[in-house]
Amino acid sequence: MSILSGKKILLGVTAGIAAYKTANLVRLFIKSGAEVQVIMTPASKDFITPLTLSTLSKNPVHSTFYDKEEENELWNNHVDLGLWADYMVIAPATANTLSKMTNGTCDNLLLATYLSAKCPVYFAPAMDLDMYKHPSTKQSLTKLQEFGNTMIPATSGELASGLVGEGRMAEPEDIVAFIENDILSQLPLKGKKVMITAGPTYEAIDPVRFIGNHSSGKMGFAIANAAANLGAEVYLISGPSQQKIAHSLVKRIDVTSAEEMYEASHAHYPDADIAILSAAVADYRPKNVVNEKIKKKDTSLEIALEPTKDILASLGKIKKQQFLVGFALETNNELEHALGKLERKNLDAIVLNSLKDKGAGFATDTNKITFIDKNKAQVSFGLKSKVEVADDILSEILKRLDA
Ligand code: CTP
Repeated sequence: MSILSGKKILLGVTAGIAAYKTANLVRLFIKSGAEVQVIMTPASKDFITPLTLSTLSKNPVHSTFYDKEEENELWNNHVDLGLWADYMVIAPATANTLSKMTNGTCDNLLLATYLSAKCPVYFAPAMDLDMYKHPSTKQSLTKLQEFGNTMIPATSGELASGLVGEGRMAEPEDIVAFIENDILSQLPLKGKKVMITAGPTYEAIDPVRFIGNHSSGKMGFAIANAAANLGAEVYLISGPSQQKIAHSLVKRIDVTSAEEMYEASHAHYPDADIAILSAAVADYRPKNVVNEKIKKKDTSLEIALEPTKDILASLGKIKKQQFLVGFALETNNELEHALGKLERKNLDAIVLNSLKDKGAGFATDTNKITFIDKNKAQVSFGLKSKVEVADDILSEILKRLDA
């Protein structure tokens, strides 16, 4: 999944021959899962039609402050457009538009929107080589970057004029890759490895039966997704779960038993920066696993159980650079029990959820947590979706990561 998935991109098209390439650019943004709106300068319509771009972007294309053709002359609010966008991309960006952007001129909808946009702005210059080399253009490029905009550099090659040199707009595939990499490089968990355990474990009794629990894995999967969205390389060690995850930064490792989860966790822990253990690991397993299916009898059946290994405690014992987080699901004396686990298992933080709280715990789509760090500082959150809870947990971890 692209980092652009679900993001809102405002594409500004200006009047350069490279505008014809924006059809492909819009298609690539849509393919990456982004939502796209296009603003065109009036003159850019000579190079590509609004119909092409509105069809590909699945949204109306705006180029004037109001739509004259509409019965009620609808006002295109440049402030709203600017606020809607997560990212603004101006491609192609002509020398004329770059110069106007530098000086704060806003004599068309695109420029007014640029000036009021609060989101990151990328621009991909495109012009003939002598225009590109001109000191005034160079000055615009420098100034615009000083203002905090990001340039997607022009490349060298054959230009529309027939001349060969620098000034060609970057290819649409390269523009998308540039933006994706730029966003990734700025994410707070970029370059960090996060290990997460999730779901239940199943402890075999015989070839067809097991001891398990009702954990759905939803909380752990939501944390995996949230960590990947922050740029982390995520290893999600999951017990049997119906949950699905499709993120290019998440590697899923499926396990069944506590013993398998222990092995996988120890394999990935040594170079992890953060480990979050949200799995509901079975505390006991049958002492002897019967090889053949146990036959029904009239007498009662007793199964001897032995403790499984406590994965979290074992990781606490060998902790080095890792920020280690455990979960505590409690029914009584919640805080006292959670603090006890935090200390006993040598954790950096523990996420407490109480089964007394409606909507918290297993199988639900919601959770209500208290985040407690090793200094006993507590942050309590209201009832939220597990997706939101995952973001809260990661933001609390981030605050303490390099502290
Ligand atoms: N955990 C683990 N391995 C186990 C058991 C638990 O890694 N064999 C982890 C869970 O993933 C969770 C935390 O330990 O992060 C909570 O464990 P819990 O079972 O509540 O702790 P216990 O010390 O076993 O306490 P309790 O008496 O409440 O069962």
